Amino acid sequence: MDVTGLRESMVAKLTEQQGVSERVAAAMRAVPRHLFVPGVPPDEAYRDEPIVTRRDDAGRPTSSSSQPAIMAAMLDQLDVRPGHRVLEIGAGTGYNAALLARLAAPGGLVVCLDIDADVADEARAHLDEAGLPQVEVVCRDGAEGHPERAPYDRLIATVGAWDLAPAWMEQLAPGGRMVVPLDVNGLQLSVALDRDGDHWTSRSVLPCGFMRMRGSLAGTEVTEVVSRDPQVALSLPGPRELGDLAAALGSAPVELPLGDLLDGRKAPQDGAWDAGHHTGVPMWLALHEPRWCTVLGEEHGFCAGIAEPSAVALLPLWGDAVVRGHGPGGERLARELLAHVRAWTDAGRPQPTGLRIDVHPAGADVPGPLVVRKRHTTVSVALPSRG
Ligand SMILES: C[S@@+](CC[C@H](N)C(=O)[O-])C[C@H]1O[C@@H](n2cnc3c(N)ncnc32)[C@H](O)[C@@H]1O
Repeated sequence: MDVTGLRESMVAKLTEQQGVSERVAAAMRAVPRHLFVPGVPPDEAYRDEPIVTRRDDAGRPTSSSSQPAIMAAMLDQLDVRPGHRVLEIGAGTGYNAALLARLAAPGGLVVCLDIDADVADEARAHLDEAGLPQVEVVCRDGAEGHPERAPYDRLIATVGAWDLAPAWMEQLAPGGRMVVPLDVNGLQLSVALDRDGDHWTSRSVLPCGFMRMRGSLAGTEVTEVVSRDPQVALSLPGPRELGDLAAALGSAPVELPLGDLLDGRKAPQDGAWDAGHHTGVPMWLALHEPRWCTVLGEEHGFCAGIAEPSAVALLPLWGDAVVRGHGPGGERLARELLAHVRAWTDAGRPQPTGLRIDVHPAGADVPGPLVVRKRHTTVSVALPSRG
């Protein structure tokens, strides 16, 4: 099989789809992803898809090679230059570390950390196989960073972080940048943060969806397998009692069409039926609706919605242009969800890419409109202004 051809075609598609920089595209053309996912046929290794390599007993992914599209976008956010010292949290298969090593060459340093010893051992083996013995792989809780090789010019987490670790802020050199999939009320955003005096300020923000960090920085977000057959997983910003949601989701829903909210959008049969509601609506809910949730299921697809004990309303983020209310009270929740979609539309359909995020020391007295208080930091989020 022509793996070089497969690789080049994956990179060409990514470049066309999202405008990857030439430096990142060259790194992706140079690093053979299939060596990092042994056992996966090369034609699958070069699809723009995440490849789960490990799961826990409940079936939740605990390690993977992330989707190439988000990896490329985050590498562009990170802006690694030759000679940079780079720390990655979440070694996984080692593929992203290999891309970082290409970008930091000549003269750079890449250290990647993974909390699982087996995963770190495998990443080491893959990097050796790919001819990159100079990349350092360490088994350690990424929350500690890696002071032995600090300071770093760049730090990237390829695992979802509920908060910024103090070690990351300490170990970054002056002028350094970190790119972290940061939780904002259950919404995950890849935020490129630069130091700005006593706080960190976003240079760019992208929606993303990484598995969450384990260890000392594990957050409050919850992902529950509500049902195994059919598969339904529910994610919430924090723990709360929701009764028998499996029964609610199994019951026939009340359907409310999005109707005039579809104006100016692609027809539902095009699949992704609008220009951005699949990232804009979850963002709106995370910032305005404490009962918000996401659901991923065989029958439901990927949805954002509102959950209460024994009732849930869901908006499919791709596909059918309806809101569905399930369980007792489902219709009321569906109307409330529809009102959120209308408010988002009236606000000019803002997107996560327009957010400004500032990360201050914990306890700081900072302006809103939205302030999220975490263990080590206080995060303020400003919505894009209209227009
Ligand atoms: C999505 S994978 C990383 C993908 C990887 N960069 C690649 O290119 O294959 C996330 C990884 O983060 C690791 N992880 C989870 N919690 C961690 C923690 N506290 N410290 C370090 N690694 C952690 C998991 O074991 C998993 O391998």
